[in-house]
Amino acid sequence: MKNLKELIKEAEENKRAIGHFNVSDWIGLKAIFGVALKLNLPVIIGVSEGEREFLGTQRVALSIKNLREEYNYPIFLNADHTHSLEKIKEAVAAGFDAVMFDGSQLPLEENIKKTKEAVDYVKNVNPEILLEAELGYIKGSSTILSTSDVLIIKEEDLTKPEEAGQFVKETEIDLLAPAVGNIHGLLKDVPQPDLNIERIRQIKSVVGVPLVLHGGSGISDEDFLAAIDAGISIIHINTELRLAWRKGLEKALKEKPEEIVPYKLLPQVIEEIKMVVEYKLKLFNKII
Ligand code: G3H
Ligand code: ZN
Repeated sequence: MKNLKELIKEAEENKRAIGHFNVSDWIGLKAIFGVALKLNLPVIIGVSEGEREFLGTQRVALSIKNLREEYNYPIFLNADHTHSLEKIKEAVAAGFDAVMFDGSQLPLEENIKKTKEAVDYVKNVNPEILLEAELGYIKGSSTILSTSDVLIIKEEDLTKPEEAGQFVKETEIDLLAPAVGNIHGLLKDVPQPDLNIERIRQIKSVVGVPLVLHGGSGISDEDFLAAIDAGISIIHINTELRLAWRKGLEKALKEKPEEIVPYKLLPQVIEEIKMVVEYKLKLFNKII
């Protein structure tokens, strides 16, 4: 089986993107793995600090390892948006395949220093673990956003190509998550901001590492395809899955108001999540 680094390289060369889906529970994992298996595509499961706290860092790592071994299948685990070296250490000890250090709200020099510290630690323990970092702050959070303030993405919020070049060179990260017009979360009554495709292309031409697109929920199909063409190799989706989870649960409870057996209600949640994952994975891999 190819490792994560090789699969990302392959996606980069073929102008495809690997889907990275966040989970908070085993229902999400069951849905995502079911679709990946059906389409025979590699997949990355992401867990943020909050999601790890809820699931259990070691338990989720063991579950992914178990699926990978039982099915001999390329499913990988990423410690998404990790804000401290201490939490990076926890994920590494638990056996994660990738970690994302998020120092994006720090000044550039500080972000470089902290990211490099994380890289040195991770690579010293296991050079195979991939380290991703964010440069340029991606606003919002993975929920339904009702305020309009995150809408305003100014030119200075975007990652500057020359800074991206310096950042990657000095930190020696494996993957870069830039701010290119993307936001975390879904805007309620207004369309999602457009991606700056030209900026992705410029960043890609100077960094020499695969690029990761965060904040995938709400982005149009056209923007996804253009972003992949411009150099994106991994795409993160969370909010749309959370929304599907809730929709599925509400439907199931409405249809079976007296039911109390979880495994008779939860398949509907799985189906809703599966629909989102299947659509995105086909799009990212250009399967018509
Ligand atoms: O790291 C997680 C992703 O960037 C999710 O973003 O909630 O907007 O899909 P999203
Ligand atoms: Zn993110």
